[in-house]
Amino acid sequence: MRVDLDGLSFETPVGLAAGYDKSGRAVDGLSALGFGHIEVGSVSRDPSDGNPKPRLFRLPEDEAVIVHYGLQNDGADVVRSRLLKRRTSTPIGGNIVKTNRGIDAPAESADEILREYVDAVRILHDCSDYLMLNLSCPNTEDGRDFFADPGNMREMMARLAEVTVQRPLYLKVSPLGGDEALEQLLEAVEPFGFVRGFAFNLAPGVHASLRTDKRVWGELRGALAGKPVEEQMNDRIRSLYGRMDRSRYAIIGVGGVSSGEDAYRKIRLGASAVQLLTALVYEGPWVVKRIHEGLCWLLERDGFGSVSDAVGVDVG
Ligand SMILES: Cc1cc2nc3c(=O)[nH]c(=O)nc-3n(C[C@H](O)[C@H](O)[C@H](O)COP(=O)(O)O)c2cc1C
Repeated sequence: MRVDLDGLSFETPVGLAAGYDKSGRAVDGLSALGFGHIEVGSVSRDPSDGNPKPRLFRLPEDEAVIVHYGLQNDGADVVRSRLLKRRTSTPIGGNIVKTNRGIDAPAESADEILREYVDAVRILHDCSDYLMLNLSCPNTEDGRDFFADPGNMREMMARLAEVTVQRPLYLKVSPLGGDEALEQLLEAVEPFGFVRGFAFNLAPGVHASLRTDKRVWGELRGALAGKPVEEQMNDRIRSLYGRMDRSRYAIIGVGGVSSGEDAYRKIRLGASAVQLLTALVYEGPWVVKRIHEGLCWLLERDGFGSVSDAVGVDVG
């Protein structure tokens, strides 16, 4: 079950997605659940209260949640001091984003947005085992489209190239924009060797056919997570894996994972590791162990000696 990614070593491919431990308060306890890695955050340079409550809604019939948190977190300095005191050896991902200052805050310039990311990277890089830049928060006005512009993406990378980033850097990007967006992304980051992989974020809004009555969720703001986003995410993983340089990049697959079968599917489509969040809400803490057992059984059934042997086998 061990996964070795470019200097990162995960004991299992199943990690905790960003958004559960937003401020690095619980990494020791969470690691006891058996996660192979824990992604903390999203963390911004400055603390943020996020969006007003209520901002998280359960849709149990769909094993889904609608999230409109808006990046509440304690800020990079506080998170750093907590992570430096951790006892667990489970690898930690530092998921970084720009501070959400609320809908009434004046719009920030491109320069300020980019500077915030770089500042947070400087603060968090030496207390994380990898960094994940959240370049596509669905729930903030300025988080959504800024990096869909390849010029902004290139400028972000150029600025990061001036920082000594001592950790592998991953980008959490929008699942929207189709294959053209993936081509543009790969082209924009190609010259920047410190970028080692990708994950897909949630899309804004609810774009799936749900079992839950629309009267329950039709008026809610936020992004859908959990089972109903699984197919969309799998489709993006397959497409990215088919296009990317596999000797350089890895995909961390996230979206609707709640069983060994789900994890295995993402791995066969090109994910080197997977993450979950919503399944923890509906299945409880044993879900991690159940996924491990299911995944081991499936790998063995199909004659794979390790997780990495199965990565991308369903993609040409
Ligand atoms: C309550 C909640 C908060 C989240 N917060 C963040 C976040 O701060 N940063 C981020 O990159 N993703 C965030 N996400 C997205 C998750 O990391 C993950 O990509 C998404 O939920 C899909 O996985 P799942 O279907 O297993 O929940 C959040 C998701 C949920 C449900």
